[in-house]
Amino acid sequence: MSSSTVITNIATLVTNDPSLGDGSPLGLIQDAAVVIDGDRVAWTGESSKAPATDNRVDAGGRAVLPGFVDSHSHLVFAGDRTQEFNARMSGRSYTAGGIRTTVAATRAASDAELEANLTRYLDEALRQGTTTFETKSGYGLTVEDESRALRLAAKHTDEVTYLGAHIVSPDYADDPAAYVALVTGEMLDACAPHARWIDVFCEKGAFDGDQARAILTAGRAKGLHPRVHANQLSYGPGVQLAVELDAASADHCTHLTDADVDALAGGNTVATLLPGAEFSTRAEWPNARRLLDAGVTVALSTDCNPGSSFTSSVPFCIALAVRDMRMTPDEAVWAATAGGAAALRRTDIGRLGPGARADLTLLDAPSHVHLAYRPGVPLVSGVWRRGERVV
Ligand code: NIG
Ligand code: FE
Repeated sequence: MSSSTVITNIATLVTNDPSLGDGSPLGLIQDAAVVIDGDRVAWTGESSKAPATDNRVDAGGRAVLPGFVDSHSHLVFAGDRTQEFNARMSGRSYTAGGIRTTVAATRAASDAELEANLTRYLDEALRQGTTTFETKSGYGLTVEDESRALRLAAKHTDEVTYLGAHIVSPDYADDPAAYVALVTGEMLDACAPHARWIDVFCEKGAFDGDQARAILTAGRAKGLHPRVHANQLSYGPGVQLAVELDAASADHCTHLTDADVDALAGGNTVATLLPGAEFSTRAEWPNARRLLDAGVTVALSTDCNPGSSFTSSVPFCIALAVRDMRMTPDEAVWAATAGGAAALRRTDIGRLGPGARADLTLLDAPSHVHLAYRPGVPLVSGVWRRGERVV
């Protein structure tokens, strides 16, 4: 029989359920309590009305919010790219050419090394409040190396994405069409059993719109659902292709035309913004305000990878989004929780109403606003995942 726990004395509770609390999208409740039963939230409301339970935790007048949902990361890799970062900070621009460096290091690494790396970044993320993460292949680019990356990732998360189409493998530099045939053929067959999603980097120098459509359509025929690296480095067809194929998410969205924004506003595709990438590549910021004002659903994630965004910290991304992408703290916190859940088409996470998975983050601060107000401060002081306290 599962035991129940009440967390009381919560100064601010973010439920992301507008039917609860103050009626805002964050569904804020002041002086709140949450009851956890097994791996689920059983009750949410004002502290004074909390039902009796087996165990009691005093939140000490601090804030509780849903665990962060990091819907975009690249965590199966070896090595790092410190020199490339250093060169960028001296004026060199980001081209994604460095992906080849990580491909070489990843191919050379043992399974144990890759998994040790992966768990290190997952622990890092967990300590910063991330309770659900998506992660991708994309640094193997052979049948064996891509399927191995997905197999290792699937040991740690259900949200696994096949990104054989990250760049054209250096082994196929003279014959990109043959690489697309591999990605949609033998490699897809080997990878599909380990993944839920298929992704493609739709960008000049990676895959064009026609190639991306062929890759995503082939993946869909094998039961994988599309998501797209779209419009990161330049304008292009990625965002509109994502909407056309009902992709769960178009990620980056840094260079958008009015038609791209209209397409997102009219479709079911979430715009996932990844400000860690703009930070680390010194690129211009995506225009979050324009998307939000058009009614687009926005998610916020880390894009954690050794090239363009080597941070596992959702709180850091929230602070960037508020300072540099003109999001309000409420919008940024929603995007990093409920928005991430929407980008993974999940309704059981990213909220703290009754029936939700009991994934909670306790801050050493009275309000979620402090995530942006106190940037760089390790505010996460407790994490529950599936009802169990893990931090
Ligand atoms: O999301 N844009 C493509 N892929 C990654 C970067 C990968 C890398 O530079 O290693 C991204 O930014
Ligand atoms: Fe990415």
